[in-house]
Amino acid sequence: MRGPRVTATELHVLPTVEDLAQAAALFIVELARERIQAQERFTIALSGGSTPRRLYQILASPEYAQRIAWDRWHVFWSDERCVPPDHTDSNYLMAREALLDRVPLPSHQVHRMRGEAVPQESAEEYERELLQFFEPSEPALDLILLGMGEDGHTASLFPGTDALREERRLVVANRVPNFNTRRITFTLPMINMAKAVAFLVSGAPKAHTLRQVVEPMSGEHPLPAGLVRPGSGSAHWFLDRDAASRLEKVSA
Ligand code: 6PG
Repeated sequence: MRGPRVTATELHVLPTVEDLAQAAALFIVELARERIQAQERFTIALSGGSTPRRLYQILASPEYAQRIAWDRWHVFWSDERCVPPDHTDSNYLMAREALLDRVPLPSHQVHRMRGEAVPQESAEEYERELLQFFEPSEPALDLILLGMGEDGHTASLFPGTDALREERRLVVANRVPNFNTRRITFTLPMINMAKAVAFLVSGAPKAHTLRQVVEPMSGEHPLPAGLVRPGSGSAHWFLDRDAASRLEKVSA
């Protein structure tokens, strides 16, 4: 019987977006080292969008080359646009250019979501891949990286979309009316199974939403990012000062 869901929320507020990326890189390198020591592998889901790009470049840099056992890493994605892997919108392409093409990570340890395939089929295929990879255990990633949009979405779980209500599936093709498209995305059950999640959020335009997510007032409807509560894990928020500017918890 699982105990009460307790998620430790840790805020890491850095002066600039560069400091944010550097701090997140250090956190990931240390977590990977611990997990590899304990279980001989490190499983991570990358986030899309633009904020993580600098983090991926830092992880691929020479100063980290000797500190990361890439042959023990398994890389997944928390969501993907329904485009081919060479399309400018592809989360895979961004990670390939910023990281994967620059480190000795065995290609069979890169678990890409096939954005080019029929969305529903691709979502089902990815869920099977996760279940097979982690069997007989539950697919609990060591770390899931996430971003947050100004509307409070995370991964491709946008406010008001069907995927937010999914309680059984781990990966779905979510229809996103705002973009008139579908996106393949982890669901909340999949995200909340993670041993740890790390959000990367920067910029003043997200400050109001971040306060709503991290310091919700009574009666406020929870935003998707606020529904991320890893059951037995921890939620780390890597923020720059601008994004954190409306948080009470953070002294000015
Ligand atoms: C995506 C991401 C999405 C992203 C946020 C924040 O596929 O775009 O999964 O959830 O993390 O939209 O994006 P930025 O980091 O570019 O602000």
